[in-house]
Amino acid sequence: MFDYNIVLIGFMGAGKSTVADCLSARYAMETVEMDQVIEERQAMSIRDIFAVHGEEYFRDLETQLLIELKDQKNTVISCGGGAVLRERNVDEMKKNGRVVLLTASPKTVYERVKDSSGRPVLKGRKNVKDIEELMEQRREKYEAAADIVVNTDNKTIPAVCEELIQRLREME
Ligand code: S3P
Repeated sequence: MFDYNIVLIGFMGAGKSTVADCLSARYAMETVEMDQVIEERQAMSIRDIFAVHGEEYFRDLETQLLIELKDQKNTVISCGGGAVLRERNVDEMKKNGRVVLLTASPKTVYERVKDSSGRPVLKGRKNVKDIEELMEQRREKYEAAADIVVNTDNKTIPAVCEELIQRLREME
């Protein structure tokens, strides 16, 4: 039982949702998949929210949800890949969370996202070069927000979970 939340951040396809499921199963933690909660509340897909209301509206929903989530504990919060773009969001994540940055190479990300159509930010940019460019633009924000960084390239999900938990325990 963790008296704080584990907040997973990182680029699309870094493995946040999969790692969240693994942590939840292994350590009896609750999971909140932010994108999913937002889709349920709006009764709309992320793609439609972007198309109908625009990105700022979606970012406001992320902020609102993070404000609510700081009252939880022992919860894995799997953030959308762009949640760290707002400083306010990072402040909210840190109020009761350890922020874990999951990383993967542009090539790995491409392999993981190439067949998905639900990521409006990658529309027309689903290639290794554009992914690398967007990742580079965001790098500073991801790194500044992170308490720890765990690379996921060529690792199994359980191995990533174990490494992550061990690193968090070392921090305590
Ligand atoms: C986004 C990432 C997505 C989702 C939305 C915007 C981003 O989440 O929140 O499409 O700006 O990086 P995943 O990282 O879970 O794909």
